[in-house]
Amino acid sequence: MLDDERNVQLASSTARVDEINQAFYGRFQFPQPPLAFDAPANASLETLMLNQNLGAWDHSLFPEHSRIWVAGCGTNQAVFVGLRFPSASILATDLSAQSLETSSRTAYEVGLKNVEFRQQSINHADYPKEFDLVICTGVIHHNADPAVPLKQLAEALKPRGTLELMVYNRYHRILTTAFQKAIRRLCRGASFDDELRTARKLAATLRLENLLTQFVRQQAGLSEAEFADNLLQPVEHSYTVESLAALLDSCGLTLITPCLTQWSKASQNVSWSIDFEDTEIAARYDSLSDLERWELYNHLMAERAQLLWFYASRKESCRKAPSERELCEGFLSHRFAPAATQKRVYLRGPDGKYAPSPRSFEYPGVHPDVVCRRIVEAITREPRMLMDEALKSTGISRGFATVNSLRLRLTTSRYPFLISVPNA
Ligand SMILES: C[S@@+](CC[C@H](N)C(=O)[O-])C[C@H]1O[C@@H](n2cnc3c(N)ncnc32)[C@H](O)[C@@H]1O
Repeated sequence: MLDDERNVQLASSTARVDEINQAFYGRFQFPQPPLAFDAPANASLETLMLNQNLGAWDHSLFPEHSRIWVAGCGTNQAVFVGLRFPSASILATDLSAQSLETSSRTAYEVGLKNVEFRQQSINHADYPKEFDLVICTGVIHHNADPAVPLKQLAEALKPRGTLELMVYNRYHRILTTAFQKAIRRLCRGASFDDELRTARKLAATLRLENLLTQFVRQQAGLSEAEFADNLLQPVEHSYTVESLAALLDSCGLTLITPCLTQWSKASQNVSWSIDFEDTEIAARYDSLSDLERWELYNHLMAERAQLLWFYASRKESCRKAPSERELCEGFLSHRFAPAATQKRVYLRGPDGKYAPSPRSFEYPGVHPDVVCRRIVEAITREPRMLMDEALKSTGISRGFATVNSLRLRLTTSRYPFLISVPNA
């Protein structure tokens, strides 16, 4: 069948695409090594925040000794996860021996003992009901049929387990997919190195004045791995919220809530919501279900929308997934304590090796937002106040959009400022 929207010409079979990806990610190590890895001194902090991300205010969803699978871990994701969850037992798998080698070398340098690395395709994994958390970001959309690895990920979840999944947003991939297909047409089965050389030359010399050319010129300054990951990807599917929800449904999964990423934090675009000026439109929008609101947000934000990075669970999970409004109600009806701790930082040296910095740093430090700072101060002064009372005492609106944004910017993994105190 002709598929004009995605880059899937090479997707002849699951096995063939596994071979291609193994070679591609063997040649291009992705992602680039980060400048630093952080490790909070409070070893429980990230587990507490993960529980709070999902509305488990009593912190009972994820135990500290969780089993976690980082599926398609690339060169460093398992190290980040290992440091965030020092008491968890982590399995990290990937097709690429080279990426696993980089990852396990870095894990050794930062002293991790809780990560096991394994070269394996998700398509051949067999871990029935083993994991509390499965993390798979930027992986299944590179497979021949993303439903095949997704079913394996779903199988691997414990009944109350959670999947953290990221797939490409269709609105972000129109230009990358077009360029990938053009290069493939020009190079016709040549090596990755030949494709890379041709793509670099095309990026430097293409004189058309259009969005594609502007985009490709911006890519010219990227590292080789980033350039290849964007512009030479052998297979690339992408989704809207609707098509992602349908894919999950076909694999026995359902969306729970968006996962706040470092990119949404950096762009201050934290919640999947839009403020409408017109009251009639705002009222219609407010009456929609979570899924409908996320769909609408994605269509209207278009290329500025967030990555499709979500928490999901089994459809038949024994835990009912909270809606965003229920997450907000839970937030308002709890007491909190400040999470202040220290963090150790492992810095990349000129030799490419990681070593601990000589001193520790305050973590999470001072909140960058003045309203959030006022709330943290109010709670520090009066720890017995419920969040609802804290907002009332500081004159802050308790409307859904404000509360949801505050919840995300005070009590989640990206903003680990407050730890809920379970209600007596
Ligand atoms: C874009 S990288 C993402 C790496 C990592 N998840 C991250 O977010 O930093 C995609 C990774 O998925 C791996 N991969 C792709 N298909 C896979 C499969 N079927 N099984 C295991 N790994 C796979 C590739 O080898 C590559 O390392």
